[in-house]
Amino acid sequence: MRSRRPLPSTRRTPANDSEALAIRVLSMAGGDRPVDAVLREELNPSKGVPRDVARNVARWVFRHHRWRGLLDTSKSWMEQLAEARELARRFDTQSNSFTKEDWARVVPEWVWDHVEVTIPWLMSLQREPLVWIRTRPGTAGELIGEMGDLDAPCEIAPDALVYEGPEDLFRSPQFHEGRFEVQDLTSQLVTLVADPKPGESWWDGCAGEGGKTVHLADLMQNKGVVWATDRAEWRLKTLRARAGRAGLFNIRWGVWQGGDDRPKGVSFDGVLIDAPCSGVGTWQRNPHARWTTTPRDVEELAARQLSLLRAGAAGLKSGGRLVYAVCTLTRMETTEVAKAFTAAQPDFEPLPVPPIFHWGAGAGGPPNQVHFWPQDWQGNGMFVATWRKRKS
Ligand SMILES: C[S@@+](CC[C@H](N)C(=O)[O-])C[C@H]1O[C@@H](n2cnc3c(N)ncnc32)[C@H](O)[C@@H]1O
Repeated sequence: MRSRRPLPSTRRTPANDSEALAIRVLSMAGGDRPVDAVLREELNPSKGVPRDVARNVARWVFRHHRWRGLLDTSKSWMEQLAEARELARRFDTQSNSFTKEDWARVVPEWVWDHVEVTIPWLMSLQREPLVWIRTRPGTAGELIGEMGDLDAPCEIAPDALVYEGPEDLFRSPQFHEGRFEVQDLTSQLVTLVADPKPGESWWDGCAGEGGKTVHLADLMQNKGVVWATDRAEWRLKTLRARAGRAGLFNIRWGVWQGGDDRPKGVSFDGVLIDAPCSGVGTWQRNPHARWTTTPRDVEELAARQLSLLRAGAAGLKSGGRLVYAVCTLTRMETTEVAKAFTAAQPDFEPLPVPPIFHWGAGAGGPPNQVHFWPQDWQGNGMFVATWRKRKS
């Protein structure tokens, strides 16, 4: 074990297994070992940690990172965990007792220059995230009746449900039967904005593990084709398993390095570039990431995003739709990429995103762009922009 901090003295011993394991995880993380990787290792089923203990450990560790900016890090891990618990309790019962200066410390300082920071956004980062699932189209009511603990709070995404029960969803028979996917609400909104039609051809350029690919294919009712590509071949293996579970056979896959090595012999009706990004929009779900992401990452990613978007655009037929998405909220990776693309590609015209998606803090920007802010949607923060390839 590589310990970066001494474990607490034996004068006060951790109250239970969860706390002791959380301290172990925190003390092992650092440098090139991010805390989420250590959590995955320590909570690996092969280590035999009981499920309720594992859940508590993750909660303790993430709560520590959520409140880290307000903690006295010179104190022992055990004292810090107690302080984080007290801050979370105070947030739940008296959120007004926090000052503007307190809120400013829940994210690193550089963020203020890169994101439209507001107190409601900062407060949203301090809440525990909801668990969203996506049911197969039109089956939400059926699943609610069967599984319970499910709620349908979002009218414009009728297949999106919040799960509030205690079970491990990945073990449920309905999951193994391909009847739902665990997928954040705003990721689902991206595919709803793309709005693919049965019989069309789509290319999901940065398909990763296929969250949006499978949704595209499902909305197309298994008719037409979705090409799923990614630079990381191993991610596509998960995608294939997901597609198989759902019985979707209108998906093809291949490796794309992000240049002109796109799928050949086909021009697409739609291209989705769900680009790699700094992930600032996921800081509620991944609180540790706020302490490791840097402004340099943001700059480098913005350049890569524009390059991927332009390379993806080359795959479209005349009149085809281009959708750019990122789960981040920095200006450089969102509005500035969109602006640079519009300026560089006169063969594309901005295509308005339907008004129902322009809501809350995300309303009021250019019609072809929308921010989904976590404080409005209770999901990850995301940005989407859309264009149409002009008819030549
Ligand atoms: C935000 S993730 C995609 C998530 C996925 N669309 C989903 O909904 O599950 C971005 C993906 O871009 C891929 N990527 C990064 N650089 C790339 C490149 N140069 N060419 C193609 N894919 C790339 C990453 O491997 C990663 O899977």
